[in-house]
Amino acid sequence: MKQYCLTSTDLSVSRIAFGCMRLAGKEQEGLRAVQAAINCGINFFDHADIYGAGRSEEVFSRILIRNPGLRGKIILQSKCGIRFADTPQFGMPPRFDFSYDHILASVDGILKRLGTDYLDILLLHRPDPLVELEEVAAAFLALQKSGKVRHFGVSNHNASQIALLAGSLPMPIVANQLEVSVEHNQLIEEGIIFNQNTPDSPVRGNGTLEYCRLHHIMIQAWSPLAGGRLGRPVETLSPTGYALISVLQDIAHDHQVSVEAIMIAWLLRHPAHMQPIIGTMNPERVIDICAADEVKLSREEWYRIYNASKPYRLP
Ligand SMILES: NC(=O)c1ccc[n+]([C@@H]2O[C@H](COP(=O)([O-])OP(=O)(O)OC[C@H]3O[C@@H](n4cnc5c(N)ncnc54)[C@H](OP(=O)(O)O)[C@@H]3O)[C@@H](O)[C@H]2O)c1
Repeated sequence: MKQYCLTSTDLSVSRIAFGCMRLAGKEQEGLRAVQAAINCGINFFDHADIYGAGRSEEVFSRILIRNPGLRGKIILQSKCGIRFADTPQFGMPPRFDFSYDHILASVDGILKRLGTDYLDILLLHRPDPLVELEEVAAAFLALQKSGKVRHFGVSNHNASQIALLAGSLPMPIVANQLEVSVEHNQLIEEGIIFNQNTPDSPVRGNGTLEYCRLHHIMIQAWSPLAGGRLGRPVETLSPTGYALISVLQDIAHDHQVSVEAIMIAWLLRHPAHMQPIIGTMNPERVIDICAADEVKLSREEWYRIYNASKPYRLP
């Protein structure tokens, strides 16, 4: 598996990462999928404190217990900042929380559940409109000084939100995790349709992909297989979904790999050096997907897929 050097860090990360959101509830199969990922050269594992309400991190800790020495060879990332309704007390609303106390307490919980004493990367999960920049800076500094977290990033943040935060932090933001796939490609689309009358689409991401490229912030693509939505029976797909899966099947046939590998190769072909965070719990699918590392789509193939995902023609 080819790797990216993560700018501003000493980390060398596999181009494809493994997301652990679905580990809770699929524990046996999921742990086999994690092992398949390691065997394929994936060294990057993405978590969040809310996945399975913490259960996914606990399940993953079994891999570390079973494999002494593995911790130093893999990169562990987790996220905090989302708080569910009724936590910690009944009646509390769903909310985002980037307060100093919550960030520090969250990391302690994450480390305990994972059974490790440090995270390689901590991401703020979703932008909190009540963010106090000085609090985040103080929390990150305390975590870095104590050795609990080595590097920091964000998730679901647009360019302006990152710029605002970055202006107050004493360390760089190294990653931004965003939903991107052949099906959900609005962040790419907005650069294409900018200032066009058709389709009538407002600016949505504020040049987020371009901002991240410019500032060497790695874009991690979550739900890179569109959460499995294109794997449904074809008769249940929308006309656009049907057009998309047909083109993907054609190109997969040409490259002798699976449709899922082509979906991942489409993200890897983007020059931003995106890192797809795959979420399958099926060990065979992990192996199929990793074949994407050897596929380089041509410009024409990339655009065939993009065009099939839209009900309109390129301007
Ligand atoms: N930052 C955020 O806000 C955020 C949000 C969501 C997720 N994430 C991260 O992104 C990771 C990946 O998310 P994801 O799981 O949605 O990604 P995904 O890789 O797009 O989707 C995986 C899901 O699709 C199913 N699937 C894939 N191909 C299929 C096919 N041909 N037929 C039927 N089902 C198919 C998988 O089922 P099988 O298991 O059966 O293969 C699995 O349930 C998560 O683990 C998490 O780390 C981050």
